[in-house]
Amino acid sequence: MKEKATAISDIIRQQPVGKTIVVKGWVRTFRNNQFIALSDGSTIQTLQVVVDFENTPADVLKKITTGAAIGAKGIIVESQGRGQTVELKADEIIIYGEADPEKYPLQPKKHSLEFLREIAHLRFRTNTFGAVFRVRHQLAFAIHRFFHERGFYYLHTPIITASDAEGAGEMFRVTTLDLLDPPKSEEGAINYKEDFFERETNLTVSGQLEAELGALALGKVYTFGPTFRAENSNTSRHLAEFWMIEPEVAFNDLTDNMDLAEDMLRYVIKDALEQCPDDLAFLSDRLLQEEKSKPQDQRSDMSLMERLEFIVNNTFERLTYTEAINILMNSKPNKKKKFNYVIEEWGADLQSEHERYLVEKHFKKPVILTDYPKDIKAFYMRVNDDQKTVRAMDILFPGIGEIVGGSQREERLDVLEMRMKEMHIPTEEMYWFLDTRRFGSCPHAGFGLGFERLVQFVTGMGNIRDVIAFPRYPGNASF
Ligand code: 4AD
Ligand code: MG
Repeated sequence: MKEKATAISDIIRQQPVGKTIVVKGWVRTFRNNQFIALSDGSTIQTLQVVVDFENTPADVLKKITTGAAIGAKGIIVESQGRGQTVELKADEIIIYGEADPEKYPLQPKKHSLEFLREIAHLRFRTNTFGAVFRVRHQLAFAIHRFFHERGFYYLHTPIITASDAEGAGEMFRVTTLDLLDPPKSEEGAINYKEDFFERETNLTVSGQLEAELGALALGKVYTFGPTFRAENSNTSRHLAEFWMIEPEVAFNDLTDNMDLAEDMLRYVIKDALEQCPDDLAFLSDRLLQEEKSKPQDQRSDMSLMERLEFIVNNTFERLTYTEAINILMNSKPNKKKKFNYVIEEWGADLQSEHERYLVEKHFKKPVILTDYPKDIKAFYMRVNDDQKTVRAMDILFPGIGEIVGGSQREERLDVLEMRMKEMHIPTEEMYWFLDTRRFGSCPHAGFGLGFERLVQFVTGMGNIRDVIAFPRYPGNASF
C-alpha cells in the first residue's frame, strides 16, 4: 500500500467521516470474519476495521489473525456498533506480515507480567506495555522541557569512566584485555597499563562529578543518561542498567535544591496527566483490578489517578533525618519489632521499610529527608556545622521509597580533602574534581532522579523491570 497511513490517534481525534483513509498496524482481534480491532501504537485505542468479506480474497481473510501486520484502505464512517464512534469500511486490505496463530505467543487474553517479561521483545504489543512506554516517553520529554524552559543545558557525561563517583565499588568493568591470558605485572596483578585506556575503567554509576564541573562554568546543567550498578539487588526497585537525571546548579543551596526537585516532579507528573489521559486511565483501572486480589489491609486507599493528582496539588513534607529517626524509634512497628531492621539508635541507615512507613503510614505524602549522618552518605556532601551530619536530601515516594537522592556539595577544598581521606578516596587521581574547589569554587547543589522509579510511580507498575524496554538485572541480559 503506497499511501501514507493516518495515525489511529488522529482518526479518533478528528473523526474524518466520509474521507478515504489508509491505516497500517497490527491485528489485535478478528471477529466473525468481519471486524478487525487494529492497533498502530499511536494510542491505546484500537480502530475497528470492517472487512468486506464477500469481496476480500479467501487467502487474505485467512491471514488476518492476531498479531499480523496489515494495511487497510477505505472510508471512515460513523460506527453502528458500540464501543467506538467511527470505523473504517475497508475496500482494500493487504497483509504485510503474517503471524501464525499456532505459534504467536500473545493471545487475546490476559497474560501475566512475568510471562510477558520472558517475551519482552513482543510485550510492546500489549495494552499495558503500550501504555507504559507512551507514558515513559512523555515523562522523558517533559523532563527535557522542564530544564530547557529554566535555562539548563543538557550535558552528556561519559558512560565509560575511570572514577567511582559514589565510592560504592559496585561497577561493571570495561576492558579489551584477554580474560584467559591477561597481561600481568611482576607482582602478578593484572596490568591495566596494557588495557585499551591504559588504566582500569568501568561503566559509570553517576554523571554527577562531571556535571559539577559543567555547572561551575555553565551555571545550570543536567544529565539524562544510562547508569550502571553491579549490586546484586534482586528487588522490584533495582536495575543493573537504569536511566538517571542529574541536575547540578551553581550557587544553589539545599533549600533551592529541594524546591527544584519538587517543582520538577510536579511539573512532569502534571504533564503526564494532561498528555496521557487514556493511557493513565487504563493503567489506573489495571491497578484497581490487581489490588482486588490483595488482602484488604495491603490495598491502597487512593487510585493511581488520585495519587498523581495528590502529588501535583500538595507540597512534600520536609524534615531532618534526626526528626525521622525519632518518629521511627517511637513507631509501633519498631517497638513491636515488626521491622526487619529494628532501629536501635541515631546513625542507623534507613531501609526501604522505614522510608515507606514514614511516607505511607505516618505522613501519607511524599517526604524529603535532609541532614543525614555523614557516615552513611557520599564524600561530596557538604558537612554541617555539627560535624556529624551532611547537607543530604532524599525524596521518598509512596509505593516506591527513595526516588531522588541529592545534596548541597562540599565546596571547601580543605574539608573535601579531609572527607576523601576519611573515606579512602584517592585525592591525587581525583585532581580534576578538586580543581573546581581550587579555582573559583562556589556553593552548589544537585540531585539524581531514578527515571524508572518515576515511571513506576506514574504508571503504577509494581516491578521496575516492567517500565524499561529491556531490563538488565542479575542473571538477565536477554534481547
Ligand atoms: O541516590 P543515588 O545513588 O545518588 C546518586 O547517584 C547521586 N550521584 C545523585 C546526585 O546527587 N547527582 O541515586 C539516585 C537515584 C536514586 O534515588 C534512585 O531513584 C535511583 O537513582 N537509583 C536506581 N534506580 C534503579 N536501579 C538502581 N539500581 C538504582 N540505584 C539508584
Ligand atoms: Mg541514594
